[in-house]
Amino acid sequence: MAFPDKRLRRLRRTPALRRLIAETRIGVDDLIAPLFVREGIETPQPIESLPGVIQHTRRSLVDEVKELQSIGIPGVIIFGIPEKKDAVGSQAWNPQGIVQLALQDCREAISDEMVLIADLCIDEYTDHGHCGVLRENGTVDNDSTLEIYGRIAQAQAFAGADIVAPSGMMDGQVRAIRESLDTDGFEEISVLAYSAKYSSGLYGPFREAAEVTIADGGDRKTYQQDWRNGREALAEIRADLEEGADMVMIKPATPYLDILSKAREITDVPIAAYQVSGEYAMIKAAASNGWIDGEAVALEHLTAIKRAGADFILTYLAREVAQIL
Ligand code: PBG
Repeated sequence: MAFPDKRLRRLRRTPALRRLIAETRIGVDDLIAPLFVREGIETPQPIESLPGVIQHTRRSLVDEVKELQSIGIPGVIIFGIPEKKDAVGSQAWNPQGIVQLALQDCREAISDEMVLIADLCIDEYTDHGHCGVLRENGTVDNDSTLEIYGRIAQAQAFAGADIVAPSGMMDGQVRAIRESLDTDGFEEISVLAYSAKYSSGLYGPFREAAEVTIADGGDRKTYQQDWRNGREALAEIRADLEEGADMVMIKPATPYLDILSKAREITDVPIAAYQVSGEYAMIKAAASNGWIDGEAVALEHLTAIKRAGADFILTYLAREVAQIL
């Protein structure tokens, strides 16, 4: 076909034509809202670096979940902030721990009408802020952590989670969790693996929200992925599928669209993408300065994440985008 070919341009002429031929649609059904619930507070607390997102009380969390359900959001992922942290993160599997109580509250309030996902990790619960337990020399002990993850999975399933989502990037975590769930009679609870989780600078606001400080100015580079690597993400995904993951996740989302589209080619299981706290904060900060149109950029990013291959998106924009749509 000789250029200029006018066909593409003809089809862009009106909004109705563009709507007709749109390849990608973002809808309320694609969105999962991340929510924080904090133990021991009387009123919800704002999070400075995540404008519009709050640390919930048990009561305000249930109200929020009901409201999200009423506007059509299919599910939430819950993060807990315990009053007491310790070296092993024991509040993460305490049946009276904040996430377990919150899961029970939500389950009672909404029965099966909303998908409840529990983030499964110990960094919010440890006094050193790492996602695994530490050896004496301060390094993360992968294999001892697996046993703890198994206990947390059982506690979360017992409390009413539909899905547990291990985010700690320990090797073998999906197998350990699957086995632990199965031994305890939770064969029907699924595992959404944070398979390709990069050691990203974009988690900063989350750490404020979840009150996580990594000891001695440390980082997670020994267990989270190096963002220079793409093939490695596919190896992580394959390993998690092999270990029994029901769904896989790529995180963060927008800077990793190449990974999403490659993941789409190698698996038919549902793929989630997590548009993380820093991605949200950048949009909000620029929009509040009047530098970008926040709503337009939000829709553009979320649509791009879907276009690249995500089936659903965990996003702090869930509520407002559902309202726009
Ligand atoms: C770890 C966890 C993190 C996020 C989700 N789960 C933080 C981290 O790995 O440091 C970040 C999510 C976000 O930035 O929105 N439990």
